[in-house]
Amino acid sequence: MASLKGKDILHGNQFSKKDIDAILKVASEFEKELKKKDGLPLLKGKIIATLFYEPSTRTRLSFEAAMQRLGGGVISMGSVESSSVAKGETLADTIRTVSQYADVIVLRHPRTGSAREAADATPIPVINAGDGAGQHPTQALLDVYTIHKELGSLKNLTISLVGDLKNGRTVHALVELLSLFQSKLYFVSPGLLRMPEEITANLKGKGMKIVETEDMMEAANASHLIYMTRIQKERFADLSEYEKVKGSFIIDQTFLNKLKKKITILHPLPRVDEIHPDVDTYSGAAYFRQMRNGVFVRMALLAMIFGKR
Ligand code: NCD
Repeated sequence: MASLKGKDILHGNQFSKKDIDAILKVASEFEKELKKKDGLPLLKGKIIATLFYEPSTRTRLSFEAAMQRLGGGVISMGSVESSSVAKGETLADTIRTVSQYADVIVLRHPRTGSAREAADATPIPVINAGDGAGQHPTQALLDVYTIHKELGSLKNLTISLVGDLKNGRTVHALVELLSLFQSKLYFVSPGLLRMPEEITANLKGKGMKIVETEDMMEAANASHLIYMTRIQKERFADLSEYEKVKGSFIIDQTFLNKLKKKITILHPLPRVDEIHPDVDTYSGAAYFRQMRNGVFVRMALLAMIFGKR
């Protein structure tokens, strides 16, 4: 496999099938190790910096936990308001600064393309932890790890992606990975929030079967797995538009009762109202397992970037 050593992680399209197999293998190794012990000191003396210009719970904390499980250190910009960003420092200057203190930068930023900009401003690896409505490649990797674990394979799957396909960076990254496995996809969204045309066209160009619909039940009944997403309120310039589409698709007990067969449900979280808490005890509800997998996959990525796997 093309080694990840010293590489940036910026976009879902940078991975080959071989890369994904290798990452999943290392993540699974670490998952097993963590059942036996608290961690593996592979990255002693190394430091990552987490720079989050947008809210985060899982991504940031799982990266920090992953680094600490590997014996490395974490420095973190508390908040944008408490740093020199509040004084008007450019992203490039902040990145140059942080590069003097850390070995890898994990960045979340509201501007699409910001991770690439950051990578261009520094010789050290940059990991895109979400660039606006653009990409979120490490989430996509933990999603495919979860799909593989829950369903036993990544091949010949039919998957429904539901919700805000226009602004959801997790689905933008995930479809890039799924395109390597020739899965059939249902895109379920309100008309206003359809998957960007260029992404759909690109996937079709790769020979993928894609069905766009507003009928979540039909899509779910044809799928092995349903990937719910939150309507990305923060991306709406006009909140009256958000009001029109909020609550468009909801999985609750009534929905589950009407399903023809068991289905696996993922969600990158946080959820607002897309999945009713009643669903949490359903055997196919895998979203809490999914978030735990984030630690193993991010450990794998860090170990590989530092050339320790
Ligand atoms: C997602 C994100 O930030 O893009 N969350 C995450 O990283 N787990 C999804 C979202 O915010 O809706």
